Amino acid sequence: MNILILGAGGREHAFASKLVESNKLSKLFIAPGNAGTAEIATNLSIDPVDFQAVKKAVLEHAISMVIVGPEAPLVAGVHDFFLQDAALQHIPVIGPKKDGAELEGSKEFSKIFMKKHGVPTAAYEAFTAETLEAGKAFLETLKPPFVLKADGLAGGKGVLILNDLQTAKMELEDMLTNEKFGAASSKVVIEEYLDGIELSVFVLTDGKSYKMLPSAKDYKRIGEGDTGLNTGGMGAISPVPFADEAFLAKVEERVVIPTIAGLQKDGIDYRGFVFIGLMNIAGDPFVIEYNVRMGDPETEVVIPRIQSDLLELFEGVASQTLHEKSFQLSPQTATTVMVVAGGYPEAYEKGKEISGLEKVVGTTVFHAGTAPVDGKTVTNGGRVMAFTSLADTMEAALEKSYANIANVHFEGMNYRKDIGFDLKD
Ligand code: AMP
Ligand code: GLY
Repeated sequence: MNILILGAGGREHAFASKLVESNKLSKLFIAPGNAGTAEIATNLSIDPVDFQAVKKAVLEHAISMVIVGPEAPLVAGVHDFFLQDAALQHIPVIGPKKDGAELEGSKEFSKIFMKKHGVPTAAYEAFTAETLEAGKAFLETLKPPFVLKADGLAGGKGVLILNDLQTAKMELEDMLTNEKFGAASSKVVIEEYLDGIELSVFVLTDGKSYKMLPSAKDYKRIGEGDTGLNTGGMGAISPVPFADEAFLAKVEERVVIPTIAGLQKDGIDYRGFVFIGLMNIAGDPFVIEYNVRMGDPETEVVIPRIQSDLLELFEGVASQTLHEKSFQLSPQTATTVMVVAGGYPEAYEKGKEISGLEKVVGTTVFHAGTAPVDGKTVTNGGRVMAFTSLADTMEAALEKSYANIANVHFEGMNYRKDIGFDLKD
């Protein structure tokens, strides 16, 4: 079968690398893709939220399944668009419809969902410009740090954690009345601060049954020791050593099962990934957020540990026969280290030639922000490439990733040298 992946990052390159291993695959297309996906599939120069262009490509290339990488096309309703179009409605889309995508598209929606279905999460209230004063009064009832979240999608930047009450009140006002995060902050969720260790768990569901994918921990800050500005993610480790069997059993019992059952009860036919951001508080899981897609760079450590045929799993999602599909995971540890452009996550340059990729051995390079130009590979984004390695221990896997990064070069290249630092014995 011919498959189309929507997206352009390391996540999509990791999906593509796994799908090309399947005997069931005929041709693979990625829209828009990057220099890495161009080596194993056909890139199509299409914006994933331009649904008419997606439709044209799907019909032209006889695509029989679409896999959606990022959240934007899901929240904008790409799956609903397919179902409403006579020429597309028989083509399965892996990723939820608009109703399910609200779990990521609206923080308030996800909090109401969790409360209703008994999923453990931080206590909260939601406020708008009309209820600003009530919001300030609510802040006075809480202990610092104060957590303010823009309700809508804000490119991962819409969460503020503030130690000072006056600052929290000012920021709340800025979000609600000055649209600090645009329309995304016309509503703000204020929630209780959860003090614990963060990790993520991923679920693939056909709306009825589910498979629990490996756990992962990502490193969001630009600086070593988890300091400096937030980024899209500077590296990841899977599995997470402290997410042992007992903890994961609690996650399944208290979070995954009520989430899947809650979607069914609410009449949300959800077929795709659920990314569950968790806080481990003294051995108990609390949900920080849902995302309706895989994480990036978490995908670059989760997908390489899946030994089963990913295309068969996706077919199971599409036909609601996921429970019949075999699902094997590698017991090895996967690590990924993200190499980024100088200056990222602030202003950075693109178009820098990348050299030394042919010297990489024993590590998979998943391209993120790269582009093929005149036979060369050049940088085309802030996060440029993820170096993923598998080994029996986290230390051995990291050693391979770092040894291979040393062979690769582009002007301004930067990466964190301490991925996994907090998980070492
Ligand atoms: P989110 O966009 O919801 O993932 O939030 C971004 C980051 O803020 C999370 O990855 C956490 O590190 C942190 N965070 C969000 N909510 C809370 C909370 N209630 N307590 C503590 N930290 C939080
Ligand atoms: N790495 C975090 C995310 O994909 O949202």
